Amino acid sequence: MTFSPIPCQKDFFNIPDEITYLNCAYMSPLASLVMEAGFDGVRRKSKPWEVKPIDFFKDGEHLRALFAKLIDAAADDVALIPSASYGIAVAANNIALQKNDEIVVLDEQFPSNYYQWVEAVKTQGANLITVSRQQSQDWTSAILEAIGEKTKIVAVPNVHWTDGSLIRLQEISKECREYGAKLILDVTQSLGALPFSVKEIQPGFMVCSAYKWLLGPYSIAYLYASPEYHEGKPIEHNWQNRAGSEIFSGLVSYEENFQPGARRFDVGERANFALLPVAIAALELILNWKVENIYGTIKQITDSISEKVQEIGLAVPPPNQRAAHMLGVRFPEKLPEGIAEKLAGENIIVSIRGNSMRIAPHIYNNEADVFKLIKVLKSYRF
Ligand SMILES: Cc1ncc(COP(=O)(O)O)c(C=O)c1O
Repeated sequence: MTFSPIPCQKDFFNIPDEITYLNCAYMSPLASLVMEAGFDGVRRKSKPWEVKPIDFFKDGEHLRALFAKLIDAAADDVALIPSASYGIAVAANNIALQKNDEIVVLDEQFPSNYYQWVEAVKTQGANLITVSRQQSQDWTSAILEAIGEKTKIVAVPNVHWTDGSLIRLQEISKECREYGAKLILDVTQSLGALPFSVKEIQPGFMVCSAYKWLLGPYSIAYLYASPEYHEGKPIEHNWQNRAGSEIFSGLVSYEENFQPGARRFDVGERANFALLPVAIAALELILNWKVENIYGTIKQITDSISEKVQEIGLAVPPPNQRAAHMLGVRFPEKLPEGIAEKLAGENIIVSIRGNSMRIAPHIYNNEADVFKLIKVLKSYRF
């Protein structure tokens, strides 16, 4: 993939010189201008006499359109929600299951895309198929093996959240279509850093939280609902999702019809005056930088880390089995006790997930951060 490298943006994110933040998969920092947009949003709420009915809609529609652009969809396909789990609940509420239908998930998948399916199994008598993989196998082939005649739902991510191992969604999508299974995606750990198009992958539903690779606020997330669900059932009913809600004086004339497209799935109070401007400013940044440039720039950093950790005896997933923006580093035996704390003591911030040390850089990192990380790792005996 061709890309234009983005110069290091550490100052733009206001990250102190001494901090090496390699933890975007946990939570991204906010770029300074994104943070300012939030302050303006809070200030707006302090002057309600200036807030007009149209303001309950304007930012939401702007944000919806930006997210649609990012995923190559139409604004009508996007709902504004507060969390990935909310979107997964909407998906589950719109796919009827029969006894013995199968729902495919991954071993150690993120809980927000897991518990809902456990619930569906309990209440609707379906079976949960948890895919694990052999040591030599990649996730994609393990998932493909699990999909069959009984599969009704395949609820997976684009990368495994613990170590960034890649799931090749094009192949999964094709298999789902062949068996008539619905593909439900949680792309929270990839969207914004890994190019993605719903036109290519064709999920039924897709969720993404804003606070990681979308560089946005906490408590905003997005739901893509394919047109086949645009007449679907929301999990809650609020005034704003109903047709004509722009006319406040008419709200007491209860309305059966919904706003068009996926708007019926919007969460109540989605006109969040403080957070929507933050999410808008963040998505505008990503669209300006372009995901392929973000991806290529982060890849240079993860490739460098990957090469250097292997030189000191640590293991990473093979390049064709991992996404470029995140790296799960494994140690020859078990994880050295207190390693994350020791790194934190040197102002190097990473996460431990399962058996992996998860390193998740962004365009605010550079080779100096890699040098600092490797220097501390070298001080361990493996
Ligand atoms: C894969 C994945 N999905 C979703 C989330 C966040 O879920 P929610 O928005 O439901 O809190 C995380 C957070 O770590 C995650 O790693």
